[in-house]
Amino acid sequence: MNVQKMTDLALQGQRVLIREDLNVPIKNASVSSDARLRAALPTIQAAADAGARVMLMSHLGRPTEGEPNDEFSLAPVADHLGQLLGRTVRLVDDYLGSNLELNDGDVVLLENVRFNSGEKKDDEGLSKHYAALCDIFVMDAFGTAHRAQASTHGVARFAPTACAGPLLANELEALEKALAHPQRPMTAIVGGSKVSTKLDVLNALSEKCDQLIVGGGIANTFIAAAGYNVGKSLYEADLIDQAKALMAKVAIPVPTDVVVATEFSESADAVIKPVDQVADNEMILDIGPQTAANLAELLKDAGTILWNGPVGVFEIDQFGKGTEVIAQAIADSQAFSIAGGGDTLAAIDKYAIAERVSYISTGGGAFLEYVEGKTLPAVAALEAAASGA
Ligand code: 3PG
Ligand code: MG
Repeated sequence: MNVQKMTDLALQGQRVLIREDLNVPIKNASVSSDARLRAALPTIQAAADAGARVMLMSHLGRPTEGEPNDEFSLAPVADHLGQLLGRTVRLVDDYLGSNLELNDGDVVLLENVRFNSGEKKDDEGLSKHYAALCDIFVMDAFGTAHRAQASTHGVARFAPTACAGPLLANELEALEKALAHPQRPMTAIVGGSKVSTKLDVLNALSEKCDQLIVGGGIANTFIAAAGYNVGKSLYEADLIDQAKALMAKVAIPVPTDVVVATEFSESADAVIKPVDQVADNEMILDIGPQTAANLAELLKDAGTILWNGPVGVFEIDQFGKGTEVIAQAIADSQAFSIAGGGDTLAAIDKYAIAERVSYISTGGGAFLEYVEGKTLPAVAALEAAASGA
């Protein structure tokens, strides 16, 4: 990756515009999970400590452009960031076309970029407005690097200098370590509800890993492809051929036992069964204990582990054992482990293993697109800026 890095630039007295992904869940006007804010903190702190005049910008949610709306205001994020930084972070909502009065070391947050018309379409005029605010544009929002929008992509074309922030650089480095030069054997775990939404990532990983563990609704399609009845389980009959093709390319262990229920609810009775005994009125909601133990054994010997998606309905405890055993095995493993995606992060929190995963990505969609081998537009824009294109 040939890009300029924020850590190589002199920031003293410079107007530094930093695009972060501060798109965090908000409940009752306060931040309910601040993982992304904490991930951005070292970048913000480093710029302020270097004497930069720091302007942060981010999106929050998906508001209608051109219609500022309190529901999507970054005000709770400004408050929360202020607490984390131990200083006031002023929220600025009237920043387009204005000259912000800032002192060296100041940190302000610009209101939701998705209130600005043209943001999502990567509008050139809007991109130039952003660029005019700064001497240096820092792209640090890995979680939004798969979007070619004015605040992630267009601005990099027009800013006097455009560079990668430390968080973005670290994320790309960790992903490259896991994918370009993996320690073998490499095991990937892909869970989630549908094969169709993860087909690209499954295909890409089938080329790279030594074993591919599938979970959730995705596993059900593989169980059906192996010839077993899946009862009322969520699965995709039209993707059985794709599942078979994947199984011909890479080792995909099919569960030998499963946890089933006749209803999907918090109070459902969970029953453990061999995989060949699922009845027509049952749903598979987790892998069974024998399968989980076998997979944990496999993860013990892995050199690299990539994790995206739980292997069962872990939000309901009686269907969470499989995900818990996998999480524990990842935590116990000596492998370089990398995890990404909203549900995966929730499982990591639930089973309290964050400290024992080598790298936790802040990206969901961006993480998957990188793993699929796609070019992230925001990174491409930094490369173009570095080459003077
Ligand atoms: C995310 O949370 O997935 C990122 O912040 C990107 O948000 P978006 O999917 O609304 O572009
Ligand atoms: Mg998304």
